Amino acid sequence: MKTLISSDVRLLANLIQEGKVVVFPTETVYGIGASTKNEVACLRVYEIKGRPKDNPLIAHFHSIEEIEKVCVLGELGRKLLEKYAPGPLTLILPKKDKFLFPKELDTLAVRIPKNPVIREWIKLSGGAISAPSANLSGRPSLTKLADVVRYFDGKVDGILIAEEPSYGIESTVVSLVGEHPALLRPGSIESKELKIILPELVFPNPFETLPVESVSHVPLSPGTKYKHYAPSAQVLLVSTDEFVQSLKAGFDPKATAWIGFSLSSNEEKGKVLSERKDVLSKEGEGSLEFDHFSFVSTNEEYTSKLYAFFEACDLAKVQTIICETPKPGKGWEGLINRLEKASLRK
Ligand code: TXA
Ligand code: MG
Repeated sequence: MKTLISSDVRLLANLIQEGKVVVFPTETVYGIGASTKNEVACLRVYEIKGRPKDNPLIAHFHSIEEIEKVCVLGELGRKLLEKYAPGPLTLILPKKDKFLFPKELDTLAVRIPKNPVIREWIKLSGGAISAPSANLSGRPSLTKLADVVRYFDGKVDGILIAEEPSYGIESTVVSLVGEHPALLRPGSIESKELKIILPELVFPNPFETLPVESVSHVPLSPGTKYKHYAPSAQVLLVSTDEFVQSLKAGFDPKATAWIGFSLSSNEEKGKVLSERKDVLSKEGEGSLEFDHFSFVSTNEEYTSKLYAFFEACDLAKVQTIICETPKPGKGWEGLINRLEKASLRK
């Protein structure tokens, strides 16, 4: 299949109108979308991703008014969207228009992407666009155009080129359809902020974003209950002390990669890094083309680099990725959730 790779929103909107599938960037991660009104096109998205059929899609809208036409917003929904939309927040709302995908559910996940170019594209597409993250099911979501092209060129009808994701993890998902508002998936908009509007916010434990009817009520081992966002390499989530120790010894530097805060400023630790780089460059094999070290200074920077680093590590056939635990405070919630999922053994 020939894939149209273009920044022309009109051309890419035409594809959606024709029932085609298009990959596009949002402020969180890339999405793979089709018209919410077109069930056949939405089902193709599942095929391309290899996604289980019982995992519903988020409908992406260009305005609050458009959401209100098809869903019951309620006072809380309105307040949340007025504060956080457009932005990385997905709400599960009661559906008014039962013909929207997925037809079997009486709820709809909705969100408004931040980038105005993407909203313009959604508007030109003539309605909402249903899209999961653009990745093969179970793998980390994608945040770089080059990775998107590698996976999806020839498999989808179009790839929309626009500003790349900056947040780096998927949106926060809040359900407003149960007895209490529930945080189904942590993300960049954190529970502490949400609680200002939703003092009764509950946290299903463990975090699980599948609809209740598709989740077995028999207790499962964590490995089967969680949905993974994992690279092929083994991910180790470690304390700062363990992280620094791992740089000094115990891991083959050619088969290992590190992402974290330590080594960014401290001179002593910086020396360790340069020693390891010496080892890498001496051993050659082109391994320095791939930088085995990704140093970050904030949780937000860590979040925005994480999935792209996982992809780069898999491409370089790294076997182990050592991740330093995030810093307590802002940006911790979504990041620790994704790191924990990625580090669960398959
Ligand atoms: O940032 C994001 O949310 C990205 C971009 C592309 O918007 N999308 C994304 O989609 O991460 P996806 O499909 O990977 O995750 C959507 C989550 C899934 O865990 C799904 O189970 C849940 O939202 N979800 C969708 N519709 C739902 C519904 N009606 N009830 C409960 N959960 C729902
Ligand atoms: Mg996903």
